[in-house]
Amino acid sequence: MTRLTRPDLDALPDYVPGRNVADLARELGIAEAIKLASNEVPFGPLPGVPDAVAAAVANVHRYPDMGVVQLRDKLSDRYGVPASRLVTGCGSVALSEHLVKAACLPGDEIVYAWRSFEAYPIIAAGAGAVSTRVPNTPAHGHDLPALAAAITDRTRVVIVCNPNNPTGTAVARAQLDRFVDEVPSDVLIVLDEAYREFVTDDSVPDGIEVYGDRPNVVVLRTLSKAWGLAGLRIGFLVAQPEVAAAVRKVVTPFSTNLIAQAAALAALDQEPEVRRRAALVVAERDRVTEALRKLSVDVPDSQANFVWLPIADRTAGFAAACESRGVIVRAFHPEGIRVTIGTPEENDAFLSAAEAALS
Ligand SMILES: Cc1ncc(COP(=O)(O)O)c(C=O)c1O
Repeated sequence: MTRLTRPDLDALPDYVPGRNVADLARELGIAEAIKLASNEVPFGPLPGVPDAVAAAVANVHRYPDMGVVQLRDKLSDRYGVPASRLVTGCGSVALSEHLVKAACLPGDEIVYAWRSFEAYPIIAAGAGAVSTRVPNTPAHGHDLPALAAAITDRTRVVIVCNPNNPTGTAVARAQLDRFVDEVPSDVLIVLDEAYREFVTDDSVPDGIEVYGDRPNVVVLRTLSKAWGLAGLRIGFLVAQPEVAAAVRKVVTPFSTNLIAQAAALAALDQEPEVRRRAALVVAERDRVTEALRKLSVDVPDSQANFVWLPIADRTAGFAAACESRGVIVRAFHPEGIRVTIGTPEENDAFLSAAEAALS
């Protein structure tokens, strides 16, 4: 058959979403599996969000506000940056795509740590950019000096995922200060802070507060995790006005949809509840980490809403054993398993499955 699409995409891995409850019902006959595979927060939508969504439904025959003015103004107040520096999008992953489209020509390079968020290689390849992957340290964190050293004349973007998905590790301010100073001024430094709300270590900097004024820094945030809007797809970035304007030029028109805008406005009124929920997640994260360490798993300290089990070639067996006990975790062959922190009961179910799987 005549080739109709780009041959270079054949080599690209498909984005593998977390397995879901329907998969286990179909394959294993388990009706009510526990999903700890996609880093959502388990407590349902924030108060006020369902009503805001229901009210917005009446207007879905209209396009949303393309300028996202009300929401950008609210984000501007909340995060202390002018609306001209904010761009919203259909999830922060779509914004990363738009950013790369705005920054890279085919053949340009994007440098990032590995393992890190599995969308990065797909986004790079989609833009025809070359991925430079820099292995994590033996402690599963970003190797910032090696990331800086991997930058060449062709590099347009370097990504720091802080905390890192899937390992949960975070880089501290002293190291990040040095890195940001070292990266050439014509390379965009993208700080992907999807899990910022779960950070409890004071040495881990808030990218917007600490680096937001640097001309070549872009901070990505999402409302999918702590703010509970994963199903509606909404995130935002903070950049200098010129960078933000360039990204806005390539954003898919109207891609911050009408319901997502309404839900985000309602969610942003619920900050105390977000903090309360994040604190519950953090307490459970620390409990699960300790319990796994007692099972002799060398879990690195996590600053996110998930933990990393670096069990190498045992990943497939471990994930299958958990699934047979009704718990869905995320396997990254051949390095490890990522487990999202759920409710205390869900975490207990995971810990018993883990104990059985490891014995
Ligand atoms: C590091 C990181 N960045 C971005 C995202 C995507 O977030 P969104 O749902 O806003 O596209 C994720 C989601 O898992 C993530 O782990």
